[in-house]
Amino acid sequence: MSVSFSISPGGERFPLPKPEDYSKEFESLKKQVEQERAKNREIVVVMGVGFVGAVMAAIVADTVDKKGQPSKFVIGMQRPSVRSYWKIPMLNRGISPVKAEDPEVDPMIERCVKKKKTLRATYTYDVLKLADVVVVDVQCDYIKEDLGNVRTGQTDMAALEASLHVIAENIPPDALVLIETTVAPGTTEQVAYPIMKKVFKKRGIKSDPLLAHSYERVMPGRNYVASIRDFWRVCSGINENARKRVEKFLNEVLNTDKYPLTVMDRPIESETAKIVENSYRATILAFLDEWSLFAERNGVDLIKVIKAIKVRPTHSNIIFPGPGIGGYCLPKDGGLGLWAYKHILGFEDKIFKITPMAIDINDTRGLHVGQLTRDALRNMGQAIAGAEVLILGAAYREDVGDTRYSGSEVVIRKLTEMGAEIRVHDPYVEHWWEFEQQDTFPGVGQSKARFFRNQEKLKEICIEQDLNKALKNAEAIILAVPHKAYLNLDPEEVVKKIGQPAAIIDCFGILSDTKIRRYFQLGCEVKGLGRGHIQRIKDEIRRE
Ligand SMILES: NC(=O)c1ccc[n+]([C@@H]2O[C@H](COP(=O)([O-])OP(=O)(O)OC[C@H]3O[C@@H](n4cnc5c(N)ncnc54)[C@H](O)[C@@H]3O)[C@@H](O)[C@H]2O)c1
Repeated sequence: MSVSFSISPGGERFPLPKPEDYSKEFESLKKQVEQERAKNREIVVVMGVGFVGAVMAAIVADTVDKKGQPSKFVIGMQRPSVRSYWKIPMLNRGISPVKAEDPEVDPMIERCVKKKKTLRATYTYDVLKLADVVVVDVQCDYIKEDLGNVRTGQTDMAALEASLHVIAENIPPDALVLIETTVAPGTTEQVAYPIMKKVFKKRGIKSDPLLAHSYERVMPGRNYVASIRDFWRVCSGINENARKRVEKFLNEVLNTDKYPLTVMDRPIESETAKIVENSYRATILAFLDEWSLFAERNGVDLIKVIKAIKVRPTHSNIIFPGPGIGGYCLPKDGGLGLWAYKHILGFEDKIFKITPMAIDINDTRGLHVGQLTRDALRNMGQAIAGAEVLILGAAYREDVGDTRYSGSEVVIRKLTEMGAEIRVHDPYVEHWWEFEQQDTFPGVGQSKARFFRNQEKLKEICIEQDLNKALKNAEAIILAVPHKAYLNLDPEEVVKKIGQPAAIIDCFGILSDTKIRRYFQLGCEVKGLGRGHIQRIKDEIRRE
């Protein structure tokens, strides 16, 4: 039986459009676009209204000219898949399809849809026929085949290639196509251009497609909007004309007076900039993994070491890695780079050493948390198998609700394999799709569940929103994410709410020495990533 509706995260069912709806939808779009053109507004279609596209669409729709008048009319285009269709009716109600901690997101989308009427969403590709500019924000994934070996993975650019096809089939020849998707270096010139050129030829269009590339540096957190609008951008075009057009467009929609554009000569340079930028970040985080183990085994508190080093301005971006490096970008972008070197650019030798190693280290760092939890429980005379373990934090970083590739996922999968009973608390996350829908999310056969044993029961995972309830009778507590709610937990209160002493595992340098001492005094066992000095504190307490 085919499913004919798409369900929003809030549980509302939206029937998918029927074949007869498409022509009506296009007629209504044509009429609206005609009216918008009469107001001198440029028509911008944003393809893919996910984490990036939804907010980018709103920023463009919010653009005003020098007289303060809206200068763009934006149509967010989203394929009507069962998983994603709901985003269209939600957007058309003025409701953001992405949950954001940034207070600017919701009012901006509502204002553009309802008040300024410069933003609308649709499911029909026909809308591309009406575009002056198309901004491509669909995903380009990197699928890993093994845990801790990025080299055996591969780029999945099916959605991007399909989008480029359909764009070329529909757009006016002089529409600017701006690829914002993070792509494997070489994609704009060696994948997108040939796809589009071939279709243009079929359509009898002699000119080159006006292709440009400019990558997103968005951080979907408290500064979501500003991280797109009020931030530096790098861009490029496949020829002079495309370059001029993309510069003009970005200068109009972003705050480039304060955050000037960097224009590169060729798209492979801006594509490479994105990949190097994120590989660099992944590498400096991975680098501390070995020092974290060194610290644990030699009585050193890596948190204090980092603090001491950070004082030096040249080293101020040294950062503690926590139980893994998540977010959508850092775990995959380096992989896109090595994959492109072989599969797009045609080289066979293995020049990449540091980038894949960094990703592999980051992807497996969470496993060590399983060992720390096992050891802490053992020291309390208890086995990990059957132990009630509470994970505090599901998101990939502090104070956001995004769980994509979060370190906590690997921690939980490992602990489950070892027989622990898992419960989770996160004030920002309601559903953890990586577990609840692990048969199909992030894609069929792509869940990290396949790298571990006994993962079936994790489909039942429920995120507890009430911390007191979550704590009750837990035998081990893992501080996995430094959310605000966890920074000032009082040991007395925690142990009281648990109802007994427990194993406390600090993955992010959250606990002060005073708190660690107090937990020991209360009969708890404490361990932490990179926190070798804990043993010293324990010995001191024993001697007291
Ligand atoms: N999320 C981030 O923090 C972030 C940061 C910087 C860069 N990026 C990059 O931006 C790009 C988009 O990421 P995202 O987080 O928004 O992904 P996402 O999965 O949230 O959104 C992609 C959207 O595109 C839609 N889509 C796919 N194929 C389509 C098609 N043929 N036609 C129309 N719509 C289609 C999907 O249904 C989905 O809604 C990626 O390349 C990512 O690497 C993301």
